[in-house]
Amino acid sequence: MPATSERVDHDAFRAAMSHWASGVAVVTTADLAGRHHGFTASSFTAVSLDPPLVLVCLDRDAICAPAFLESPWLGVHVLGRGQETLARRFARKSADKFAGVELASAPGMGGVPLLTGVLARLECRITSRLDGGDHVVLLAEVGRAALGGGPGEPLVYYHRAFHRLGAAH
Ligand SMILES: Cc1cc2nc3c(=O)[nH]c(=O)nc-3n(C[C@H](O)[C@H](O)[C@H](O)COP(=O)(O)O)c2cc1C
Repeated sequence: MPATSERVDHDAFRAAMSHWASGVAVVTTADLAGRHHGFTASSFTAVSLDPPLVLVCLDRDAICAPAFLESPWLGVHVLGRGQETLARRFARKSADKFAGVELASAPGMGGVPLLTGVLARLECRITSRLDGGDHVVLLAEVGRAALGGGPGEPLVYYHRAFHRLGAAH
């Protein structure tokens, strides 16, 4: 192992991280004008049970970043097996990622668009925005957690591709 003070090569960092398997989420919000924004995320994780906190890391250069910097609310949608199309849609730069997507909304959440038919859904209030280099770490308290009635197995992202879970051992 090299000394930790040496800067790791970007390709080596990406290659190492590509071995980290994760779930896939779509994170949404609404800006103060009520416009809908969202992005596909693999950097989502639970942080604390009491209080219930989660985090997600957002690229500061993302088109939707200003919306997540001004809105106090976000929705996290855990995608299920077979929802790769939805994951790709929210990972593409596009004017309206929500066109044709069935939406719900939650009272008191500033009109944050909520996706239906996902594996699980968390309705959250952003409590801190932390510096994460070229990303901003959004720390959020979960106000409501629900199972969405979507397919029962999660969508998995590993080695820069979508996968299904293998058989349990
Ligand atoms: C599987 C997957 C996981 C991703 N995870 C993240 C993430 O955790 N944070 C992030 O900022 N972008 C992530 N991205 C990239 C964003 O989804 C993508 O750049 C998105 O278009 C950004 O939103 P924008 O269109 O508003 O710029 C991921 C993309 C994919 C395909």
